[in-house]
Amino acid sequence: MNPILVTGALGQLGSELLAQLGGRALGITRAELDLANLDSIGPTLRRLHPAMVINCAAYTAVDQAEADRETCFRINQHAVEAMANACNQLKVPLVQVSSDYVFDAYRGCQPRTETDAVEPLGIYAQSKLQGEIAAAHADRHLIVRTCGLYGGGARFRNFVETMLRLSDIHSELKVVNDQCCTPSYCRDVAAGIVHLIDGNAEGLVHLTNSGSTTWHEFAETIFAIAGRNVSVLPITTEEFGAAAPRPSYSVLDCQRFQDLTATPLPSWKDALARYLAERPAT
Ligand SMILES: NC(=O)c1ccc[n+]([C@@H]2O[C@H](COP(=O)([O-])OP(=O)(O)OC[C@H]3O[C@@H](n4cnc5c(N)ncnc54)[C@H](OP(=O)(O)O)[C@@H]3O)[C@@H](O)[C@H]2O)c1
Repeated sequence: MNPILVTGALGQLGSELLAQLGGRALGITRAELDLANLDSIGPTLRRLHPAMVINCAAYTAVDQAEADRETCFRINQHAVEAMANACNQLKVPLVQVSSDYVFDAYRGCQPRTETDAVEPLGIYAQSKLQGEIAAAHADRHLIVRTCGLYGGGARFRNFVETMLRLSDIHSELKVVNDQCCTPSYCRDVAAGIVHLIDGNAEGLVHLTNSGSTTWHEFAETIFAIAGRNVSVLPITTEEFGAAAPRPSYSVLDCQRFQDLTATPLPSWKDALARYLAERPAT
């Protein structure tokens, strides 16, 4: 049986997927296939001839992307186009991981479904939407939108790890309180992707932990569970002043995932507690 090829093998989600797929999968790193080198993608995939490609690699530096549009689109759109072409030649499915950032500054509080209109706000967000469109050119494709990923321990720069690192040196932190979404544990998202591919799911699927929160509440919960005495002051997105815009409400409705897999999605609080209990310290 040919292996499932997972790009972004050293990333948060890619490494977790590889751990869960075990001997069924082959990971590929940037050193082995630099997606910025578009001409190398087709030949590499044809040489490896995987049974499926799961693209967990991406340009993920959301704020940096505002000043580096070309590289961001090269990795998040054009590399996916090359992967979709290669997958069609090999007649294998492409799984593309995408983001809640495809949604806009919607002010309501109704979780967003797969059929809701998208309107990405920043360069990274726009490139991820173009990546979805590119992946949809694969004859067999699955596009999984997820949100606020964390996992893998202190070697990664996600929100949870950033909060823990900052709490080593600050007793007071200011955290944005006007963005609502569902931070999600890579372990649960990877398990969800395995369920989807084992069920031959295709099309667009939302997949996060369940429930919703703000980054402010999420930070307070991290410190409460981790037993750290940090006071978390709420600020607005405007006050924080990040380079890239973010959606103010991007909670994803995961009903389609539940219908396809009949698998319950743990709540974000349950997921966070498990992560803090089992995360590697390095
Ligand atoms: N992180 C989030 O909060 C979040 C939320 C929603 C959706 N997503 C999506 O979920 C997917 C996985 O994200 P993640 O959090 O696991 O990201 P990550 O930890 O930043 O991993 C991204 C991976 O992409 C690789 N990569 C970047 N540029 C590359 C290139 N030119 N050639 C080959 N590989 C390259 C990186 O390689 P190196 O290890 O060499 O840097 C890294 O392994 C991405 O599609 C992301 O857009 C993420």
